[in-house]
Amino acid sequence: MPYKSKKESFKIFLLYIKSFAGFCRYKLLFLVMLTALSSIGQGIGIFMLIPFLQIFGLGTNRNDMSLNSVTNYLLKTLNFIGLPLTIGSVLFCYFILTVLIKYINYRQNLLNTTLQNQFTSSLRCDLFKSIIFAEWNFIAQLKSSNIAHVITSDIPRVSTGTFFFMKALIGITVAFFYILWALMISAKLTFFALLVFCATFYLLKSHLPESFQKGATARNALSGIYSILLDHINGLKIAKSYCLEKEEYQNFVKLNEEISATSLSSSMLNSRTNMIFTITTSFFLCVYLYLAMNVFQIGAERVLLLILIFSRLAPCFLELLTSSQHILGMFPSFLAMKSLQHDSDRHRELSNHTQDTNSNKMSLSESIKLENINFSYGNESEFELNGITLEIPAGKITALIGHSGSGKSTIADLISGMLKPDSGAIKVDDTVISKENLYKWKRAIGYMPQEIFLFHDTIRNNLIKGNPDVKDEEIFEALRLSSAYDLVMSMNKGLDTVVKDRGLRLSGGERQRISLSRTILRKPSLLILDEATSALDVGNEKKILEAIKQLRGKYTLLIISHKPSILNFADKVINLKNGKILNVIDNSLD
Ligand SMILES: Nc1ncnc2c1ncn2[C@@H]1O[C@H](COP(=O)(O)OP(=O)(O)O)[C@@H](O)[C@H]1O
Ligand SMILES: [Mg+2]
Repeated sequence: MPYKSKKESFKIFLLYIKSFAGFCRYKLLFLVMLTALSSIGQGIGIFMLIPFLQIFGLGTNRNDMSLNSVTNYLLKTLNFIGLPLTIGSVLFCYFILTVLIKYINYRQNLLNTTLQNQFTSSLRCDLFKSIIFAEWNFIAQLKSSNIAHVITSDIPRVSTGTFFFMKALIGITVAFFYILWALMISAKLTFFALLVFCATFYLLKSHLPESFQKGATARNALSGIYSILLDHINGLKIAKSYCLEKEEYQNFVKLNEEISATSLSSSMLNSRTNMIFTITTSFFLCVYLYLAMNVFQIGAERVLLLILIFSRLAPCFLELLTSSQHILGMFPSFLAMKSLQHDSDRHRELSNHTQDTNSNKMSLSESIKLENINFSYGNESEFELNGITLEIPAGKITALIGHSGSGKSTIADLISGMLKPDSGAIKVDDTVISKENLYKWKRAIGYMPQEIFLFHDTIRNNLIKGNPDVKDEEIFEALRLSSAYDLVMSMNKGLDTVVKDRGLRLSGGERQRISLSRTILRKPSLLILDEATSALDVGNEKKILEAIKQLRGKYTLLIISHKPSILNFADKVINLKNGKILNVIDNSLD
């Protein structure tokens, strides 16, 4: 990600502000108010030095009317409270003031951390929501490592950036008040000091694009690490069998070194900024003091106050500078997060108001009809379905057969509502599937993919996922129907046996049968089995086919296969080739 132009960086900044300020609203204003209060308190603390010096008989320049007028207020206040001007009373006031300031600072820190946490957590939830409510066709094309990276790494970076953003905001407020105090003491010298700070800022401004670039490099390297990690975990067996360990390790080390180098050079950049700023401002402070004493001939009290103010103002400016570096370093992550969210929102499956929450299922008594369906995957693939019309009778077994790539899974995904046709209608007993009833229809479908995913949990919990109220008798019935009853009962802990994630403990056929039980437990109106037997050996395939036979009449089944064995017992066979229906065989008419 190359450095964005100034205009674009500004746009990202505005987008960030909009997002953060939109979230905090008045709380951010409250934070600024607290900072203002604490700055005023600190200003009073500085001006209280005057009466303190007067007690010691120091720097009492009675002709200095303007300075006296500021301290007069303080003296009047002391008088009003009824405190005499003694060391004890001044120290007492100073202590009370410090307590107040520290309390305000405490509240300020609390608010700062709370806002940072709440904002981060809302970003995480909003993004996850946008992703999971997006259309399947979009989600299927997302890289899982990218999703993981954005949620677990980019968002924490945005969170750190937010911390520095608030720090910068506090810094600006504090600086505003210190400049105000300084102006009250000497306008000329304040303008001079501001000129110095601005010049130093200008000198160091080239560090800002560098921060953006370093942030982008670090982000990209980390993204590569996530990709290697997830790909490797998902394909561990393949990687090991191809002896790819060494190659993967080397890629990992290379990316890791890149991350270390970027993080090191970011720290160096920050330290360099710090050093240059401190040296430059120290130099100008000397010039400044020389001018104050010898050219402007300002009294000792004023010089003392100015030194105090500027020694606090300088860190404010430095903090502003380093905070800007951190904020800019976070922008690549913020951009990645926003663009993932924006894309997901653009592909939202249903708008908010149609996202229903009831648990009704659509019933099916006659048939599912596809009428003149046209569909393409867009730019991603040349594959097209043109004018597909077919019917799946209720309570029967329909087989969708054809070579690999002929469009069987695509049609199944269209029927199950995972994909949206470009034109044409899908009807369930003459009800057209639309946005309004999509979820009702999806809940009525039991879909079993070829790649079975079992959670690292007990068999019982795997079976009742999304269906927690089912009774054991229903579970046993489903296991019997899917020829998995004997299998589960033969395990020493029965339903409480833990299967490992990705179901490593069970064979392919065993996983298929457990998964079939899980699908049956959803009591679907339509059961779709996508290549349920394709990866199985003859023995296991026979078992699954037996299970499917048992389901005849109880369920409407759509079986997808490229194996001819399915033809023997399907009531209807739809033969596909290159996205077109080659022929339809209706065995139920025999
Ligand atoms: N998510 C997708 N994006 C782009 N093209 C896809 C996608 N899924 C499938 N395809 C393409 O659509 C065609 C049909 O795929 P599919 O329906 O899965 O075939 P089958 O299940 O019959 O093997 C294939 O050429 C495949 O490359
Ligand atoms: Mg397929």
